[in-house]
Amino acid sequence: FRIAVFASGSGSNFQAIVDAVQAGKLDVEVGLLVCDRPNAKVVERASAAGVDTFAFRPKDYASKAEYETEIVRRLQERGIELIVLAGYMRIISDTLLVPYAGRIVNIHPSLLPSFPGLDAIGQALAHRVQVTGVTVHYVDGGMDTGPIIAQRAVEVEEDDTSDSLGAKIHPVEHELYPAVIRLIRDGSVRLSEDGLRVVRGRS
Ligand code: GRF
Repeated sequence: FRIAVFASGSGSNFQAIVDAVQAGKLDVEVGLLVCDRPNAKVVERASAAGVDTFAFRPKDYASKAEYETEIVRRLQERGIELIVLAGYMRIISDTLLVPYAGRIVNIHPSLLPSFPGLDAIGQALAHRVQVTGVTVHYVDGGMDTGPIIAQRAVEVEEDDTSDSLGAKIHPVEHELYPAVIRLIRDGSVRLSEDGLRVVRGRS
C-alpha cells in the first residue's frame, strides 16, 4: 500500500508517518513527498529518510491544473493509492480530486468544523475556547471540509500561547495520523460511494 505525503513546511507530521513506518507500526510505503516550497524543511526530512520528492514552484506553471496534472502523472507512475495532506497549504482542485476520489485525507489542528483555514491554533485562542483539538478528514474541494474520520480533543489553558498550545496539539497529531492511515490501509475506514460519509468496518 503506497502513499504520497503532500506538505509545504516543517513536515513534523511527515516525519511521524515515516517514523511509524520505520518502527514497523504502519505497514505502508511512503512512495513520494510532494512539496510546493522547494526550500521547506520537509524536503530535507524526505531526503534524509530516502523518500523521493517532487518539489515544484507553482509560479513555474501556467495554472493549478498544469501542476496538478504533473503531480497526478507522478503519483500514477508510482502506483500511489492514498494522498496524505500534512500541512500542504493549497486547495486541491478537480484535476487531483477526480482521479483520487475518496483517497485523499487531511489533518487539521482544530475540532472541525470550528476554525478551518489558516492559523487554527490562533483562532482557538482568539475565541478563548476551553477545548480544541485535531481532526483527520477526507478531502473535498473546500477548505478543511469533507467527512470527518477521527478527532481528538486538547484542553486549552487560560495562559496558553500559540506556542504552548501548539506544543500540546502537535504530539496528538503525530499519534493520530499514523493510526488513521493504518485504519484506511486495513480497509477498516473508507469513504462512501457518494462521498458524503465515512464507512467503518471491513466490508
Ligand atoms: C499541522 O498542524 C497540520 O495539522 C496542519 O499543518 C501543520 C503542519 O505541520 N495542516 P508539520 O509541517 O507537519 O510540522
